[in-house]
Amino acid sequence: MYLPRIAILISGKGSNMEVILKACLESELPADISFVGSDNINAKGLETAAALGAPTRVFFYKRDGRKAAEEAIASAIEETKTDWIILAGFMKILSPDFVRRFPEKIINIHPAMLPLFPGAHGIRDAWEARADHTGVTVHIVDEEVDHGRILAQEEIEILPDDTLETLEERIHRVEHRIYKETLIKHFLENPISIEEREE
Ligand code: GRF
Repeated sequence: MYLPRIAILISGKGSNMEVILKACLESELPADISFVGSDNINAKGLETAAALGAPTRVFFYKRDGRKAAEEAIASAIEETKTDWIILAGFMKILSPDFVRRFPEKIINIHPAMLPLFPGAHGIRDAWEARADHTGVTVHIVDEEVDHGRILAQEEIEILPDDTLETLEERIHRVEHRIYKETLIKHFLENPISIEEREE
C-alpha cells in the first residue's frame, strides 16, 4: 500500500493546514504532503507551511483568471502525483469542470452543520440567526458549493454567554480534531492502489 499524497489548499491563516501538516510529519496521519497551495500570496499559512518544510505554491487567480489558475492547480496536482486535494479555508469556488477532473478526491471542511449555513461566513451566519446549535462538517466536494457526501459532522452548542469570538474558538478547536481524525479514517478506508499510483 502506498502512502497517499495530499495537497492542501488555503487562503489565509492555515490553522487546519498546520494541524494536518504536523500530523503527517509526525506520522500520525499516514500521508505525504505534495504541496501547500494558495490563491493568496500573502496567506499567513504559506509561511507556516514553508517553516515546517512543505513545498508551497501560489495560484494567481487575479492575474491569470480562474480558468488558468485552476489549470495551474490541476497541473501541479498531476505533476506531483497528488492523490487527495484537501481544502482548508480555500476561499475560491472550484469550477464544476475542475471538480469533475478529480471526482471524490477533493475534501473540504466547513464551519457549520451542512446543509445549514453554507457559504463564506458559516460561523457568523449561525450566530446571527440565533441558532442554538451549529457545528462542523467534513465532506467530499461535488459540483455544488459546500455540498457533497458528508464524511463527518459534529454538533456544537451555542451557549448563552458565548460571544462570536468564543464560538469561533470552540469551532476551530473541533475542526482541528475532526479534520485530522476524518482524514486518517478516510485514507485507511480508501487506499491508493498500485494502478492508481502508476497511472
Ligand atoms: C475554517 O473555519 C474552515 O472551516 C473554513 O475556513 C476556516 C479556515 O481557517 N473553510 P484556517 O485558515 O484553517 O485557520
